[in-house]
Amino acid sequence: MDHPYHAYRSLFPVLSTHIHLGACSGSALALPVSGAIDEYRSALLKGGLNWEALLKKMEEAKEKFSRLIGAEKEEIAVLSSVSDAVSAIAVSLPEQPHRNQIAFTDIDFPAIGQIWLAQDRFKYNLAVIHGEDGMIRLEQFEKQISDQTLLTCVPHVSYYNGFKQNLKDIAGIVHQKGSLLFVDAYQSAGHIPINVKDMDIDILAAGTRKYMLGIPGTAFLYIKRELSEQFQPKMTGWFGKDKPFAFDLHHSGFAEGAKRFETGTPSFIGLYAADAALKLLLEAAPVQIESYLQKLARFSLQHGKEKGLQIIGPQTVHNRTSLISIRSEQASRIESLLREKNIITSSRNDVIRIAPHFYNTKEEIEHTIDAIAALMHGRRKI
Ligand SMILES: Cc1ncc(COP(=O)(O)O)c(C=O)c1O
Repeated sequence: MDHPYHAYRSLFPVLSTHIHLGACSGSALALPVSGAIDEYRSALLKGGLNWEALLKKMEEAKEKFSRLIGAEKEEIAVLSSVSDAVSAIAVSLPEQPHRNQIAFTDIDFPAIGQIWLAQDRFKYNLAVIHGEDGMIRLEQFEKQISDQTLLTCVPHVSYYNGFKQNLKDIAGIVHQKGSLLFVDAYQSAGHIPINVKDMDIDILAAGTRKYMLGIPGTAFLYIKRELSEQFQPKMTGWFGKDKPFAFDLHHSGFAEGAKRFETGTPSFIGLYAADAALKLLLEAAPVQIESYLQKLARFSLQHGKEKGLQIIGPQTVHNRTSLISIRSEQASRIESLLREKNIITSSRNDVIRIAPHFYNTKEEIEHTIDAIAALMHGRRKI
């Protein structure tokens, strides 16, 4: 299989000694991203604090993320995690007579459901949309979302099994019932093309440390321009104000657009990293990344089966990403044993996850699946 991104491999030094298949948890660090982190440090070492430069970098990173998802820069806010982004929305949802229900799914990352469960306002009005074998059929959305639903929260891609949802179809159902649609795109942004306008998404959040090639501490929140004015943020801070540098206790107008959701000083080092990472990703182009990763997914499904491994979730590539989860009661132990062989994967409960990005090759996946099969089929006692 041709590797269209072969030339990019030298940008990721870890690939010369390791097989890095952990993008669902954290991707390999690229030299330009590391360079941007150095740039942040050395600017401080050599020139001292420069707010103007830091704020400019923040705007540049937002602009690149807005391009990645087909939004406008003013529709993007910077927060420190996806959990913070969901919480910021949860505490600030506008009151609407006769609409006080939140719908979320049982394939959401658990923290997302936990955030909704923590909201006193909604705790007796939660609808959980259930999947079967970690996948949700559209009929379930039809059934669970009602004319009381204020907001429906869904993951684009399951962190557990790589199941990919059809957001446009979900948006059709959600909007027909009068609910808002919130998408957690942490497992898709960076390797699956997203266009919030075409997909008719109202609100979306994604962090930078997984497929977006960044580091922990930075997440982006998209909120449709027409919607943001309806929210009065309850989780707030000076970055969310219209005049943050007025330093006036009694002035508390919100900034325009998504910026009103920002809170305190962001992780500027994370924004330097995010800006360089997004530049790289936009150049590599998610449409082409997806098409290459689909080939890897097809190969993984086939090779895993040949090796007698139980791959959970969708068995064809039309509704899944290249995240392949192999069932094992000893997933965490296998992750550790693979790490001893310089193979980086990521376990969750009873699955070991193989999550390639555009820098990975078919041979790396083949080698990893073979190593997992050897460990599981007892050629080596675990
Ligand atoms: C789909 C998904 N959403 C949310 C999270 C949590 O993100 P954060 O740590 O930024 O709150 C994760 C994993 O870390 C995830 O996989």
